[in-house]
Amino acid sequence: MTFQAPKGVPEFWPPRSATLTAVRTAFADAAERAGYGYIEVPVFEETQLFARGVGESTDVVSKEMYTFEDRGGRSLTLRPEFTAGVLRSVLEHNLHTGQLPVKLWTTGPAFRYERPQAGRYRQFQQFDLEAIGTEDPTVDAETIAIAWDGYQALGLSRVRLLLNTLGCKECRPLYRAALQDFLRALDLDEATRQRAEINPLRVLDDKRPEVRAKVDAAPLITDHLCASCKAHHDQVRELLADLSIPWEDTPRLVRGLDYYTRTTYEFDHPMLGAQSGIGGGGRYDGLSEDIGGPPLPGIGFAVGVDRIILAVEAEHGPGAAGQARCEVYGVPLGERAARAVFGLVTELRRAGVAADMAFGGKGLKGAMKGADRSGAAFAVILGERDLAAGSAQVKTLETGEQSEVPLTEIVMKLKERLGK
Ligand code: HAM
Repeated sequence: MTFQAPKGVPEFWPPRSATLTAVRTAFADAAERAGYGYIEVPVFEETQLFARGVGESTDVVSKEMYTFEDRGGRSLTLRPEFTAGVLRSVLEHNLHTGQLPVKLWTTGPAFRYERPQAGRYRQFQQFDLEAIGTEDPTVDAETIAIAWDGYQALGLSRVRLLLNTLGCKECRPLYRAALQDFLRALDLDEATRQRAEINPLRVLDDKRPEVRAKVDAAPLITDHLCASCKAHHDQVRELLADLSIPWEDTPRLVRGLDYYTRTTYEFDHPMLGAQSGIGGGGRYDGLSEDIGGPPLPGIGFAVGVDRIILAVEAEHGPGAAGQARCEVYGVPLGERAARAVFGLVTELRRAGVAADMAFGGKGLKGAMKGADRSGAAFAVILGERDLAAGSAQVKTLETGEQSEVPLTEIVMKLKERLGK
């Protein structure tokens, strides 16, 4: 019997996995430069945290959670996202009693029981960033700028930023009521009618053309904002303009999680087809109170690492993030030589040179094929006669040029020739 990975779970192996680590590094570097520190949070949490945090009426909570009972009878859920867990951790460990905002990033798998397709998985990787404890719109713009810089660092030139606001607990209920009045007057199917009663904003997000056409004239949140939400939104847009980050105002943008207030945004890549959302975020000024904490505003985003890999491949071709790097490749001929080459390769690695070698007693031809495939600049060939002479043959793989170098100088010489 053979086994297969569970359905909807992508796996990554070299060389493609290099793009995965490159994506994480691009966003982590951008976050660290802006003063965000790494937080490690659990893969599973109490189910109630997500039910109350993300919202019972969302698809994520009502249809997609991986919930199980542990052996002690507790209901636990594999995290469908990071924000609720990060905020729970901040509150539990009183991080918010120090300097604000608390700036954190994390990365790892999240789990949603969705219908798998290209770009939509049941286990997917997110990079997540949160700034907790301030209402300052500058921080809204900061989070957007970090995500933007992450995409740019990966050479993604076609990312679109879609920006909206969802108002606050003062103005949103008024908008919600106006929208509901509008929707009730429409001829909608039963399921959509029900959605209009529970979560009318989600109806704006309906992808079916016939529903889209009907809600075309729906009232927009941007026409119902209170003065402070309007000022906040205007400031975020001015700051983005200052930073020369282009955005599209999308007053119909609705996020799939219930905790959002004020600024909300998504990043989209036009080459990915149906699953084009490569990131999303926004403010969650009421979430802390929803999960039993004090009033504590926050904002953040998560980007979908799996989809960004697809976007990098779509823009730059597969393998764009490069192979696992190798600079020097050892080719031993015979057992004694293999021991010496292993020593040399280890010494090179310790000296900061990426080095690999042929294993398993391969002959010259097979070992040289390995050297060519490795992408190394130099092969170090060592046979019995070289060993006796205390030297090795260094071959420049591109030109085929070969020279003899004393073993005592070889690390220094190779470093020199690699410009290190
Ligand atoms: P989200 O929009 O649900 O937001 O997810 C963020 C990103 O994760 C999406 O834009 C997408 O790229 C990726 N993603 C989501 N579901 C899947 C899936 N099934 N397969 C592949 N990729 C997926 C959040 O999760 C919020 N916690 C973001 C946030 C942080 N808001 C404030 N702070």
